[in-house]
Amino acid sequence: MIRCGKDMEPLNQKSLERVVSQRALQMGSSFPCQICVVGFLCGVCLTSLFLAALTSFGTLGFGGVSFSTFSTGISSWNSNLETSNMITNGGCNFKPKEIERRLDSQRSIKLRVDDRISLLYSAWSVLLNESINGESEFLESVGLHRSNVPKAPHLENCKLSAKVNERLDNRVENESLPPWTMWKGLLDIFPFSATDEQLRYYRHEAISEGAYPPWVTGSDEENYPFTRKVQRDLWIHQHPVNCSDSSVRFLVADWERLPGFGIGAQLAGMCGLLAIAINENRVLVTNYYNRAEHHGCKGSSRSSWSCYFFPETSQECRHHAFELMGKKEAWEQGIITGKDNYSSKEIWAGRIPRVWGNPWSYLQPTTEINGSLVGYHRKMDRRWWRAQALRYLMRFQTEYTCSLLNAARQAAFGWEASKTVLATLDEEWTEDVKRKARGTEIEEYVWSNHKPWIPRPLLSMHVRMGDKACEMKVVQFEEYMGLAERIRKRFPHLNSIWLSTEMQEVIDKSRSYPHWKFYYTNVTRQEGNMTMATYEGSLGRETSTNYPLVNFLMATEADFFIGALGSTWCFLIDGMRNTGGKVMAGYLSVNKDRFW
Ligand SMILES: *[C@@H]1O[C@H](CO)[C@@H](O)[C@H](O)[C@H]1NC(C)=O
Ligand SMILES: *[C@@H]1O[C@H](CO)[C@@H](O)[C@H](O)[C@H]1NC(C)=O
Ligand SMILES: *[C@@H]1O[C@H](CO)[C@@H](O)[C@H](O)[C@H]1NC(C)=O
Ligand SMILES: *[C@@H]1O[C@H](CO)[C@@H](O)[C@H](O)[C@H]1NC(C)=O
Ligand SMILES: *[C@@H]1O[C@H](CO)[C@@H](O)[C@H](O)[C@H]1NC(C)=O
Ligand SMILES: *[C@@H]1O[C@H](CO)[C@@H](O)[C@H](O)[C@H]1NC(C)=O
Ligand SMILES: *[C@@H]1O[C@H](CO)[C@@H](O)[C@H](O)[C@H]1NC(C)=O
Repeated sequence: MIRCGKDMEPLNQKSLERVVSQRALQMGSSFPCQICVVGFLCGVCLTSLFLAALTSFGTLGFGGVSFSTFSTGISSWNSNLETSNMITNGGCNFKPKEIERRLDSQRSIKLRVDDRISLLYSAWSVLLNESINGESEFLESVGLHRSNVPKAPHLENCKLSAKVNERLDNRVENESLPPWTMWKGLLDIFPFSATDEQLRYYRHEAISEGAYPPWVTGSDEENYPFTRKVQRDLWIHQHPVNCSDSSVRFLVADWERLPGFGIGAQLAGMCGLLAIAINENRVLVTNYYNRAEHHGCKGSSRSSWSCYFFPETSQECRHHAFELMGKKEAWEQGIITGKDNYSSKEIWAGRIPRVWGNPWSYLQPTTEINGSLVGYHRKMDRRWWRAQALRYLMRFQTEYTCSLLNAARQAAFGWEASKTVLATLDEEWTEDVKRKARGTEIEEYVWSNHKPWIPRPLLSMHVRMGDKACEMKVVQFEEYMGLAERIRKRFPHLNSIWLSTEMQEVIDKSRSYPHWKFYYTNVTRQEGNMTMATYEGSLGRETSTNYPLVNFLMATEADFFIGALGSTWCFLIDGMRNTGGKVMAGYLSVNKDRFW
């Protein structure tokens, strides 16, 4: 447990808020004394303390906050919260002298505000943990009602999303496509009253065109050329109506697993294999995925891409392909091929499918390198294709991935979200008020389809140094920040940065930019010249996969992005953004791709 000492009196709310917002929130997960409140790996930490605090009914400190006289009920607790300690001690070598002087006597009332924020934050953490580990009676056992906990704007209902997506990834009976319509998510299943034949017909038409693969967001101008069409066609290609039909052929491939391959390289390799599959008219089936070989990936999703994202093809096709793998004739007749049938040149630098013509030839990149907008560069075809392939592979997140993102958002933005929500409540949620179990229809069918809240506008920055130096010129953090300042000049309301980096040094440097709010996950970072492989090894498989993946997805969601196109990782993020409605956000790169 982190205890932040008790050598200071509490602050009043105003100064507290100032400090909290300037330091704690700015620093996101780094705020040393708030350690437990944050941290993607740790999401659990606070709640366990919270649990300890709640169940021991005594005065128990957590993160410098003491819960006391708990037995009298939460809404009336009169805690001697030493919230100031959160800010000032235990490794927070930050002493707000002016603030110290302005302590006032009303503090006990005002401090309540922070108490309430903590409490709601903690309740969310508990619910989040439950959604991962199953229901527990914990909240009830401390006198709180699950249904009373205000909805967390930054958390997604992962079970529901997975269900909705599953429906959107399966054909409607007798139709050639899943129910992709111009309605989003649940809106599509709003009780359809029309018995009118004509309306039915239009609905059927809308579905049969399949013009709206639901994982493509943004208008056509905000995506690479043909994104919608390509995504639809890829889905159709990968989902033959009858997988057992003898005309269906397969390419079954494991993900790269040599130790030198980072996640980015593995993804790029699979994009190459998908290109081969399209060119040879085979269904791509991905097999062993080493990064999913950990206890977070349960059951059949273990060691499989389907732990993180919906599988690339239907279960029937996977089954059938695996069956064929055991048949000698199937190999001999070329019904099935494997990675060994292709040279690494074919996989890594093979021909880009021409099924859609060559849209890359007139693609206008929105990438700025060294102060100029790039008009044209080599290998535009590869850039376009990788973006499409990756968007397809990552089209739907699984419940597991969704919950990883929830945990990350809770750690980074939970405190702010709690503060915002509390500002809207006119009664104590902890009080025993009866609330409606169901929302209104507009909440259920329309607003439920909104993405979870993140503080926008958000700039995502991926700073990679370490052993990348051998591939490209290392760019200093200052240079990245220079680009951030440039964006901010044009969009002055931008002040939040999601910082994704393996380097502790970068995190340390971010402290010298106090006019930015930095958010980042709490993970052990690389120090000195440790190699990437050693570093990943030290994190363990689960963390070394989940943590970059969360950053990756966060970067694709952010409003702006700054990275080094020279790294495969950023190149792929760029691809996801350009097929995720972010073309017009532009991309500032600190260097160019080494192959251009
Ligand atoms: C990050 O989380 C770990 C637990 O996984 C914890 O020990 C550490 O103190 C946390 N660090 C910060 C800076 O929050
Ligand atoms: C989360 O759930 C697991 C399993 O139910 C439990 O062991 C753990 O203590 C919970 N953590 C918190 C913080 O509630
Ligand atoms: C699908 O087609 C079959 C045969 O044409 C028909 O019997 C069945 O009712 C159809 N199902 C739906 C949902 O239209
Ligand atoms: C799929 O194809 C196989 C082999 O041609 C055939 O036996 C089977 O009946 C087909 N299944 C459906 C649902 O059409
Ligand atoms: C793929 O490789 C297997 C042996 O590894 C071979 O039997 C088969 O003929 C090859 N298929 C093609 C299409 O080259
Ligand atoms: C960046 O641009 C400046 C002038 O605009 C030029 O002098 C410099 O060589 C360029 N750097 C690179 C790496 O292209
Ligand atoms: C790391 O740096 C230290 C000194 O800076 C050097 O002695 C050591 O050999 C380096 N290790 C690697 C793996 O490069």
